[in-house]
Amino acid sequence: MIIVLLHPGAMGSSLGAALVANGHTVRWVGEGRSAASRARAEADAFTEASDLRSGLDGAEMVLSVCPPEFALQVGVGVAAAGFRGIYVDANAISPESGRTVAATVAEGGATPVDAGIVGPPARGGARPLLYLSGPQLPVATVAEAFGDSWLEIVSLDAPVGAASATKMAFAAWTKGSAALLLAVRALAESEGVTEGLDHAWATLIPDLHERLTRTAAGSAPKAWRFRAEMTEIAATFSSAGLPAGFHEAAAEIYGRLDDLRGRDDAGLDDVITRLT
Ligand SMILES: NC(=O)c1ccc[n+]([C@@H]2O[C@H](COP(=O)([O-])OP(=O)(O)OC[C@H]3O[C@@H](n4cnc5c(N)ncnc54)[C@H](OP(=O)(O)O)[C@@H]3O)[C@@H](O)[C@H]2O)c1
Repeated sequence: MIIVLLHPGAMGSSLGAALVANGHTVRWVGEGRSAASRARAEADAFTEASDLRSGLDGAEMVLSVCPPEFALQVGVGVAAAGFRGIYVDANAISPESGRTVAATVAEGGATPVDAGIVGPPARGGARPLLYLSGPQLPVATVAEAFGDSWLEIVSLDAPVGAASATKMAFAAWTKGSAALLLAVRALAESEGVTEGLDHAWATLIPDLHERLTRTAAGSAPKAWRFRAEMTEIAATFSSAGLPAGFHEAAAEIYGRLDDLRGRDDAGLDDVITRLT
């Protein structure tokens, strides 16, 4: 198949590489993208298209993997180009947002499939989970395109929205609890009781300090993207009649780390300074 990847980020490029390994042609659209996306696309032997329309010409599938706040915009662009193949939205968005993207691309003539990615990029043996939901036939086509070598594919017998809901529920705990941990440490710092908290943790919850350090370093460069994901999770809770406040607060925590975007050298002190 010819598959258009919008766009080759850290996760998206790993999915594209899995498709190339399965014998598919993966196109990407260079227009507007950074040097980092270009380098990933070149390293994984994706074929460049000069613009979206030429990229979509003759393609059978589009795979959207981008920061959550741009998921709808990407779908609108593809619908406007009149794409009539399978459109897979694999972004960290609420089931409601997933259904909106699906309706948008369907209006342009495409068949929507909902997807949710859980786990790290498929590199060096890491095997993320790709949840799929929607009409059975296109879901089966997407599952077959990936095969099962680089990712673990889980086809849910459920409508569009279910794969996104699975992703939301998973990340609600992982990234939500990470934000809470950072906030707790910032509170101790503000109150001048960091030593006391560290002592209590070392005595009663010995793993927590190590998790805090790991969380700070891991979250800092990606927090700008987590903020929108937390907002999507808050909306998911709200639609389910559950309190949205946990993840609204998590969005604010990650939002305060915006300027650490891409900073792989940032650590706990950088994070706590910004939170306090
Ligand atoms: N990384 C992970 O471990 C992980 C795990 C699970 C799920 N995911 C999901 O995968 C998605 C993307 O993650 P990622 O790690 O690939 O992110 P990333 O490395 O930050 O890449 C994001 C891609 O989207 C592009 N982009 C930036 N601004 C855009 C815009 N306005 N419109 C459309 N595309 C835009 C970027 O292009 P330029 O920067 O070149 O402009 C880049 O190619 C997210 O929804 C995330 O939740 C990621």
